[in-house]
Amino acid sequence: MAIVPDLLQVKDLRKTFAAKRGLFSRNRRAVHAVDGVSFSLGTGETLGLVGESGSGKSTLGRLMLRLIDPTAGSVQLEGRELTTLSPAQVRAMRSDIQMVFQDPYGSLDPRKTIATTLAEPLKVHGTWTPESSARIRETMLRVGLNPDHAERYPHQFSGGQRQRIGIARALMLNPKVLVLDEPVSALDVSIQAQIINLLKALQRERGLSYVFIAHDLAVVRHVSDRVAVLYLGKIVELADRDTLYGNPAHPYTEALLSAVPHPDPDAAQARRPIIAIGEIGSATQLPSGCRFHPRCFRARALAGGAPGAVPEVCQREEPVLQARPAGGFVACHFPEPVRSLSPDSTEH
Ligand SMILES: Nc1ncnc2c1ncn2[C@@H]1O[C@H](COP(=O)(O)OP(=O)(O)OP(=O)(O)O)[C@@H](O)[C@H]1O
Ligand code: SF4
Ligand SMILES: [Mg+2]
Repeated sequence: MAIVPDLLQVKDLRKTFAAKRGLFSRNRRAVHAVDGVSFSLGTGETLGLVGESGSGKSTLGRLMLRLIDPTAGSVQLEGRELTTLSPAQVRAMRSDIQMVFQDPYGSLDPRKTIATTLAEPLKVHGTWTPESSARIRETMLRVGLNPDHAERYPHQFSGGQRQRIGIARALMLNPKVLVLDEPVSALDVSIQAQIINLLKALQRERGLSYVFIAHDLAVVRHVSDRVAVLYLGKIVELADRDTLYGNPAHPYTEALLSAVPHPDPDAAQARRPIIAIGEIGSATQLPSGCRFHPRCFRARALAGGAPGAVPEVCQREEPVLQARPAGGFVACHFPEPVRSLSPDSTEH
């Protein structure tokens, strides 16, 4: 299906949490969870969103649904601003944009039957009619569940079936956009493939748009048209899938990809060493200039390789996301890989 651009537009979105310094402390510190993120999503498109734990992926997803309010920035769906909607308007907007969570068990009410859970969105939106029971059965069937099990409770289903229930619930209002937050991370590999195939088939049939959040870069490669790489609340690279995986420009993307097994074990990329970059920094004390600079093996190589040395511009100036001749966008002052790096010099 052809992708129609700009169904959803996110502009300079920010979320700063005020978190307590300690259990008994009155002092609060600012956590810059999402720190100026912009992207667009087309109809029928899947945008993969990757980054280490704590990079702000779930916060970004929750902001898009207005499950939390942004500190600043804009989210527009078909040109309609979502960040300024009243609570009643937010409820109405949820028929267009829905979320599927990693842990369907945690997000399903254990005391409610599946029929009750699937009826709820229609009742909240005032669109429940006597024919809606048939719609519940149809939706269950479409996501691969036996409609005769509609009166069962979540604990009577397997993990994969529970994720199918989560997807069915998200589909009940016929949304345009699904934000899928690690939808297969908790499942066995064989079940993961089934759920991904289901999501792809639903997308083809209904023209759905997905924001697909995941740690697993191999899964993201399989499902995405474009991929955005998030680091400490900022997109550091955004490109179409083949450019990003075949020719990454940002050293952080290079490091993440170096740990992913290549589909063809004989390919040259499959023999590249894993680039170790240590732990993610803190979203409360962001480094000056480029927030990746304390971990950047490229900057270190450019500055001569001494521990802690980086080009002055990397410490001083925050790089902005810029178009790259090879395609895509990258936020780096030195946006091409340094091919002469030896494997040893890449490791911390
Ligand atoms: N309600 C909150 N209050 C304070 N800080 C928060 C809150 N929610 C998230 N954070 C912080 O915001 C940052 C981003 O968190 P987020 O959950 O969005 O990351 P993530 O990329 O989804 O991580 P993961 O891969 O582990 O799910 C982290 O530093 C996290 O500790
Ligand atoms: S701007 Fe400098 S520190 Fe940041 S990623 Fe690029 S080379 Fe590394
Ligand atoms: Mg998360």
